[in-house]
Amino acid sequence: MPAALRTILASPTPLPERVILAAQALLLTSGLADDAAVLAHFARYLASSARAPADAVHALLRLRPRPRCAHPFNALISHLTLSGDPSSAFHTFAVLAAGGDAGRPDGHTLPAALKACARLGGGLREGLQAHAVAAKGGFLGRLPVRNALVTLYGACGECGDARKVFDEIARPDVVSWTAMMSAFIRGGRFTEALRVFFEMDVAPNEGTLASVLVACGRLGVVRTGKAVHGWHLKREREMKLIVGNAVLGMYAKCEKLDLARRVFDSLLARDIVSWTVMLSGLVNCRLPSEALELFNEMQTSGVKPDKVVLSTVLSACASLGALESGRWVHEYIERKGIEWDVHVGTSLVDMYAKCGCLESSLSVFYKMPIKNVSSWNALINGFALHGHGREALEYFDRMVASGLHPNEVTFIIVLGACCHTGLVQEGLLLFESMKNVYNLSPWEEHYGCMVDLLGRAGLIQEAYGLIKVMPMTPAVFTWGALLSACQAHGRVDFSQQILRHVHELESSGSGVYVLLSNVFAVSDRWTDVKRVRGLLSEKGLRKEPGSSVIEVNGKTSEFIVGQKSHQDMDEICTMISILMKQIHLEGL
Ligand SMILES: *[C@@H]1O[C@H](CO)[C@@H](O)[C@H](O)[C@H]1NC(C)=O
Repeated sequence: MPAALRTILASPTPLPERVILAAQALLLTSGLADDAAVLAHFARYLASSARAPADAVHALLRLRPRPRCAHPFNALISHLTLSGDPSSAFHTFAVLAAGGDAGRPDGHTLPAALKACARLGGGLREGLQAHAVAAKGGFLGRLPVRNALVTLYGACGECGDARKVFDEIARPDVVSWTAMMSAFIRGGRFTEALRVFFEMDVAPNEGTLASVLVACGRLGVVRTGKAVHGWHLKREREMKLIVGNAVLGMYAKCEKLDLARRVFDSLLARDIVSWTVMLSGLVNCRLPSEALELFNEMQTSGVKPDKVVLSTVLSACASLGALESGRWVHEYIERKGIEWDVHVGTSLVDMYAKCGCLESSLSVFYKMPIKNVSSWNALINGFALHGHGREALEYFDRMVASGLHPNEVTFIIVLGACCHTGLVQEGLLLFESMKNVYNLSPWEEHYGCMVDLLGRAGLIQEAYGLIKVMPMTPAVFTWGALLSACQAHGRVDFSQQILRHVHELESSGSGVYVLLSNVFAVSDRWTDVKRVRGLLSEKGLRKEPGSSVIEVNGKTSEFIVGQKSHQDMDEICTMISILMKQIHLEGL
């Protein structure tokens, strides 16, 4: 290879068009244009150095005579895909597939092209074209082509087509099996992914193990996950990080934090993924103080926290009300100049809001360069949580004025604000606008909120009317809200009417009955209690739990179903309904 060409090909920086042309000339005059390996090298070079990737394709096509074999094109396709430009990669493939004097796709072209389609994100149309080319060119018998097709259909969410191609493979290899599992995982069909794993008759590789562990985690089948973990431990003395992180993630998703922690501690090297998985596992399992402790460890570990970690830590601070730590994270973000994306900004707003620093929450909110509905929700929720119902509604209006559409969570927040501030009219209007203006279908939580709102205002008939038109089975907290309203407004007569409809309830658990019997027991309506109890046994429902013990500030109280009375029953019922709403909110 001429020295000049070697220098050009070795250049790490983009070169001007005329240098590329000079390189082409050199290729031709030196006779190297016939050398497929040199051309492939040239193609890779073009892909990484041309200003626009399309230029690379053209440069390759401008060679006269054109390369006769597909090798340089294949190199270009793979390289473009790897460097994040699958669309130019597909374009290169399309040129090649169109035929003419540019050579023809060969056995290596199709897997490369299909990979490009899979990376396109919804590149099903392109993928189908490539599939057709593969069929026409007689490449479907090749395993790499079939494997790439399985991967492609999986990436496009077409599990059925992936399975069809997979089933036609005579002897699937580990790549085929893993591609099939990933297709099911991407399609959310975790049970089927597991089934594929159990059907597998070749040794899994690390990618396979990582996939099966994801499926176990999503299904919450810790025993299967443990078996995979154990199986791997027996074969390999050392766990590779990719498998280690997957095992960690599986235990975290299954909420086995102690096991996750053990794996975490046993990892020889931890990367940012390991820390992120462990931290978010702790936060999701509502162990925020452990999460903060771990974050302190992380700071001495040398792994720098990224935006995801910082947002996770902020949500731990938010649930703990740990303002000091939250402020520290805020300062850290400022000090390190970490970019304020929507996620980080919203976590900061939420942390200050939940810690009760509404001013800081607001000032962070205004500093956010980009906000979305979640950011507004965090802010509005801050006002709602701290009893500023009117401000919550005011910011709701501002959000709408800014052109954003509220979502279901927004309405849970504002309806909750109306409920706790007694803004009946506003609540009714919001509930209507939710359905008619924003085209959102109310969830159980919204109905529950409205029942609570109407009930508290003494509009028991209206609240009951709403329960009757709910499209879903009312949950315990909805009945609880109505029943405590009946009590608060001395409408035990109305409770009887409710009782008649209890028969119609095909409730999955016995929660409603237990709650009803409690409420009646409190009101000393023992005949009614007996009727509810009768219902319990008639429907073959087990009463659960018979009693529950809770600890508050070191003191334990025991609640027994049907106990004659409890001095705070009223408040307890209300509290339960608030808590249920909060749990649903947090879970989102
Ligand atoms: C707001 O942006 C964050 C971060 O990109 C995202 O996770 C969240 O789902 C977005 N919220 C909505 C309602 O789109």
